[in-house]
Amino acid sequence: MNNFISVKDVTDIHALVQSALAYKADPYKDLALGARKRIGLLFLNPSMRTRLSTQIAAQQLGMEAVVFNVGSEGWALEFEEEAIMSGNTVEHVKDAAPVMGRYFDILCLRTFPSLKNREDDYSELYINQFIKYAGIPVVSLESATLHPLQSLTDIVTITEELARTTAAGQPKRRPKVVLTWAPHVKPLPQCVANSFAQWVNAWGQSDFTITHPEDYELDESFTKGAAIMHDQQAALKDADFVYVKNWSTFADYGKIYNNDPSWMLTNEKMLVTNSAKVMHCLPVRRNVELSDEILDGANSLVTTQAGNRVWAAQAVLAEILRGKR
Ligand code: CP
Repeated sequence: MNNFISVKDVTDIHALVQSALAYKADPYKDLALGARKRIGLLFLNPSMRTRLSTQIAAQQLGMEAVVFNVGSEGWALEFEEEAIMSGNTVEHVKDAAPVMGRYFDILCLRTFPSLKNREDDYSELYINQFIKYAGIPVVSLESATLHPLQSLTDIVTITEELARTTAAGQPKRRPKVVLTWAPHVKPLPQCVANSFAQWVNAWGQSDFTITHPEDYELDESFTKGAAIMHDQQAALKDADFVYVKNWSTFADYGKIYNNDPSWMLTNEKMLVTNSAKVMHCLPVRRNVELSDEILDGANSLVTTQAGNRVWAAQAVLAEILRGKR
């Protein structure tokens, strides 16, 4: 693996998941792998889990991690080729990225979409310009359209939970995974939902349903292979895992259309599931997206899921480091 931008950069998802779980069992087993190597974590947007888990993962591989909140502390970057920089941008990415390439062995980047222009966001200009000019491996910490470290974590968490139930004596079977849209107070990117759909489809170990109100269709290039339903209650029937996430509209880009509060997930709705485990990438708007009773209940995996971010990041960084040796 050279870059980690989407599931397409992964040759063997199952091996990567098992690598993450092996790091969970023995976090320091590869402490020498990243010795005398440095990782740069660049944030153009806020983060808690991604920032901390990736930093911890790097340190557990012996790397030195440097965090740079470039969005709030750095020069305003220009990404367009041949830009006449007479506006607010101070430094072009083609000047900044090669410098980063001299300072670091791996460069990680968080860059959210504008949600103003779909073509621009879906071209992934920002992260692609870093890949083009940095000259070192680039890892997405969430880009304009995808959040691959989150999605790898999600597959790790589902795999771990399935192994736990099998070890507890339940028969091994193909799980039903449901991604459900939830209300929110502001328009959010489609990244987590796109990415989860892309990874679950590539993983291929579940029956996968996506449920959302009409007008919230995601980009088919990510969802193709999933059953799409507009009736949330029908979609939840017999689910083993329910992943809750808001996203804004894709077709009429970046809008909130129907923000029907009845789409909030509650315990009452969960009665038709197979006592499903509930997942959310966090941060979550309590009692808007998900009720307190679910988040604080026994079937919530959200804290385990967030904890697993460390092991997913460690597996990815280790694979990149091995490729550099
Ligand atoms: N899930 C996630 O990416 O969390 P942060 O935005 O806090 O990094």
